[in-house]
Amino acid sequence: MNRHRVYRTIAMTFLAAGLGLSLGWAAEKPMAEPQKGPPAGKGPMGKGPMGKGPMGKGPMGKSGQGKDATFATDRDTFHFLLENHKAIKRNVKKLDNGVETVTESDKPEVAKKIQEHVPAMYERLKSGNGVRYWDPLFAEAFKHGKKMKLEITNTAKGVKVIETSDNADVVKIIQAHAEVVSQFVKNGFDEAHKEHPIPGAEKKK
Ligand code: HEM
Repeated sequence: MNRHRVYRTIAMTFLAAGLGLSLGWAAEKPMAEPQKGPPAGKGPMGKGPMGKGPMGKGPMGKSGQGKDATFATDRDTFHFLLENHKAIKRNVKKLDNGVETVTESDKPEVAKKIQEHVPAMYERLKSGNGVRYWDPLFAEAFKHGKKMKLEITNTAKGVKVIETSDNADVVKIIQAHAEVVSQFVKNGFDEAHKEHPIPGAEKKK
């Protein structure tokens, strides 16, 4: 390789690394996404043996780190919702075993994104492949996702969700999370940058 080619190769390498880095950050940082993941050995990656467990079967990165096949789509959807929070209306009714919520928008494109967001998040609750692990309430929700049941009904302008659990502690998480979603609707990104406590965590300490 002559000197020219060597320089070009080095330059290309840096360019590629830089591009990779910036894409990586773009995927994670705007909303200070996941990054912590479930504790080692406890998350879906730690549980299943490689190739057999969720990591081997599902899309890359079933590690709770948020870098799976649908992460970018899911993130774009909730960013869109946060950006358009003023166009969203939400009503939450507490039930003994959970919540009943109606979340809607007069803007069809926002309504459509709400309808996409909820089943996508339900899927993540079931797979344990969460997002937002840096936020204690979300980390806790994903830990208990399999004990949550969502009945999702599309309405003309969004969704009605009945979210329940047989476990009293999980009911509290569901209700706390529903409050946080309402805060997302009220405050958009300002709220999304905050951490939210696990209900009753202070008492247990
Ligand atoms: C304005 C923004 C948002 C809206 C309108 C919205 C809407 C909803 C709705 C309607 C549900 C079903 C449960 C319920 O109604 O309480 C839900 C669940 C969920 N959302 Fe969002 N969301 C928003 C932002 C976010 C963000 C920023 C994240 C995470 C980064 C997120 C993650 C989740 C998760 C993990 C669930 C399932 C957990 C559970 O229901 O317990 N959402 N969201």
